[in-house]
Amino acid sequence: MSNLQEQINAARDYIQARTKIKPEIALVLGSGLGGLVDEIEIDAEFPYNEIPNFHVSTVHGHAGKLVLGKLFGREVVVMQGRLHYYEGHPMTAVIFPTRVMHALGAETFVVTNAAGGLNPEFRPGDVMLISDHINMMGTNALIGPNEESIGPRFPDMTHTYTPELQQLALRVAEQEQVALQQGVYVAWSGPTFETPAERRFLRIIGGDAVGMSTVPEVTAARHAGMRILGFSAITNVATGAADQPPDDHLEVLEVALVAGKKLVRLLRAILQA
Ligand code: HPA
Repeated sequence: MSNLQEQINAARDYIQARTKIKPEIALVLGSGLGGLVDEIEIDAEFPYNEIPNFHVSTVHGHAGKLVLGKLFGREVVVMQGRLHYYEGHPMTAVIFPTRVMHALGAETFVVTNAAGGLNPEFRPGDVMLISDHINMMGTNALIGPNEESIGPRFPDMTHTYTPELQQLALRVAEQEQVALQQGVYVAWSGPTFETPAERRFLRIIGGDAVGMSTVPEVTAARHAGMRILGFSAITNVATGAADQPPDDHLEVLEVALVAGKKLVRLLRAILQA
């Protein structure tokens, strides 16, 4: 067995020995979206520093723990806080939790993030269903030896965001009367926000929202063959137009709370469906 597979198994075994939850769904809660944890009937929770081979997140507003329990009737494993590439973690560490959640049995991956709106029609507080992504991080999470036991060397990325799950999200949003934008998420390494010229460029190449996460985890989930559903909480205007206001991380977190409330309503209805 490869060293990586042994590390994944060690983390999986540590968690499985301490919970009876067999998660079918893995959920990643982005900046300011941790409130969803209040809705979980928690069976077990693990600060990242407790789990073998996990790295620990250092970002303000990203409490790092793995929570297992029942959410709206489904057995779930939830990352409250994630690791970011800009913190200096190697990509293998950024995607390690995704691989452990898959090893725990989760076949569906639901990912959320806070993002800037490149699309001029988006407003802070909007929620965007991710239809596709563009990786502008300057690296790929799967660079390195391929773990054949997880997936192929050259994963197909054509229908990464599962079309059936997107349809479900759109249907549920209409039923719940939650306004839902749709678009392409661009991953930016950070930690700087983008310059106005970079934002105009990202819009021209097809981006609707820009953030500093998600694409590595989605790439790992896709590699493992998981079904994927993604949402961005639009927290700030990021058009790079003449009236572009300066960026502020605290403002991002505050607006994420507003969009987070809409996301909770959506996810409740989606998980129940
Ligand atoms: N850019 C990058 N990441 C972000 C932004 C942004 O404008 N807003 C929230 N996360």
